Amino acid sequence: MTQPTGRISTRRLALLLGEWRAGGSRGLAAGVRGLVLDGQLPPGTALPAERELAAALGVSRTLVASAWDRLRAGGFAASRRGSGTWTTLPHGPGAVPELAEQPIDLARAAPAALPGVGSAFDRVRDRFAPELADHGYHETGHPELRVRLAERFTARGLPTAPDEVLVTSGAQHAFALVLRTLTGPGDRVLLDQPAYPNTIDAIRAAHAVPVPVPLPETGWDLVGTEAVLRQSAPRLAYLLVDFHNPTGRRLDAAGRERLGAILRRTRTPAVVDETLVELDLGDDPAAGPQPMACAAPGQVITVGSASKSHWGGLRIGWVRAPADVIRRLVSVRPAFDLGSSVFDQLVVADLLADPEPLLAARRDQLRVRRDALVAAVREHRPDWRFTVPPGGQSLWCALPGPISTRLAVGAQRVGVRLVPGSRFGVHGGLENWLRLPYTLTPPVLTTAVRRLAAVAAQLSSEEPDSPGDDLVPVV
Ligand SMILES: Cc1ncc(COP(=O)(O)O)c(C=O)c1O
Repeated sequence: MTQPTGRISTRRLALLLGEWRAGGSRGLAAGVRGLVLDGQLPPGTALPAERELAAALGVSRTLVASAWDRLRAGGFAASRRGSGTWTTLPHGPGAVPELAEQPIDLARAAPAALPGVGSAFDRVRDRFAPELADHGYHETGHPELRVRLAERFTARGLPTAPDEVLVTSGAQHAFALVLRTLTGPGDRVLLDQPAYPNTIDAIRAAHAVPVPVPLPETGWDLVGTEAVLRQSAPRLAYLLVDFHNPTGRRLDAAGRERLGAILRRTRTPAVVDETLVELDLGDDPAAGPQPMACAAPGQVITVGSASKSHWGGLRIGWVRAPADVIRRLVSVRPAFDLGSSVFDQLVVADLLADPEPLLAARRDQLRVRRDALVAAVREHRPDWRFTVPPGGQSLWCALPGPISTRLAVGAQRVGVRLVPGSRFGVHGGLENWLRLPYTLTPPVLTTAVRRLAAVAAQLSSEEPDSPGDDLVPVV
């Protein structure tokens, strides 16, 4: 690229860089490089003038100039007198060294922490001393975080008081706690299928029985849901209506009203998993439907998490339910643990004090990554079909044949980890399906798809002559 094709404002670059600015010229160069690899600074983006950026970051102009030198030396920037400095990607195969032979983990759908989470750690450390004078056990959650979470629910249209909130060590912990409290051995739990595999495992670990309702090609099977609720009378329903994992789909406002009415008619308590609710990749996240709990107040127990909006390493989640349900959960909790980390709770409380800028950054990041994955799959495997999800963090691809497990096994040879479709089924199956998360950077995703496309091409050339050859007659 011999000249820039776009530009980024000084303010926006300073925001995206977050704490990278603290690491001197090496840190600044690493930050810009990360943004180029992440797709947030596409090749050809003109960087702000050195003097202007230096003033905005509160550093010397020499430091910025030296960072730009580093970027040029690594192939991540080019400059020309009169045109300034702009971003580039190093040329040639293996030019981005970390991609050459790097194993790529597409088994986990979990993004790294956003710049900004580290700054919250710093702020909390600076004011943490008084906490050390206390015993540190908060079985219902740190009061400051309970207040912030109640405010966030209220702002989203679900009026909530702090005593209707319980802080947990992640959403998975929250769900396990609800299962232990509300279900007994042999009780049935309804869930949509494909399902988040750890949900299936949690239901079984509670000695309950998962009862799947297959999701149609698009949308939701609410008629099927009502039929199962009537015929099997499950003790609990597990609902993932906000950017469902793995399909990414979302139930609209009218669907929520219908589903709420079904829950009320059948008197079924429901756990609504909102782990992915903040990952709305549409144009206007504020215009999304109201929380599912609004459609069946009193019957819905909402679980949520900071894992995808901010960082999974925080291990902070929560339950929002009527205060008497919260009290029951708290009485069961000591068998699991005696509270969540105070430091991590205060970090989340800090992040929720003004959540929008970081949430917007997370959405921007995932939008870029989703679009890069969509483009790579369309280019390299046009026979894999999918609906572009409006949010969440994965594509759910229909494969041209029942090859998901073979593909996952073959992918290991080329350094890509995958979860085969069968893990998303209560009784296996789903061999025609594959989940592809888009939580890694665009160059990594494109490299992964290239490698997977080669494995898939090999599999199709190895198709058995007669599909019936391996069948064993049942007598
Ligand atoms: C739908 C869903 N629920 C729960 C979890 C677990 O979240 P946490 O890290 O908060 O335990 C995940 C993680 O991927 C998820 O996708």
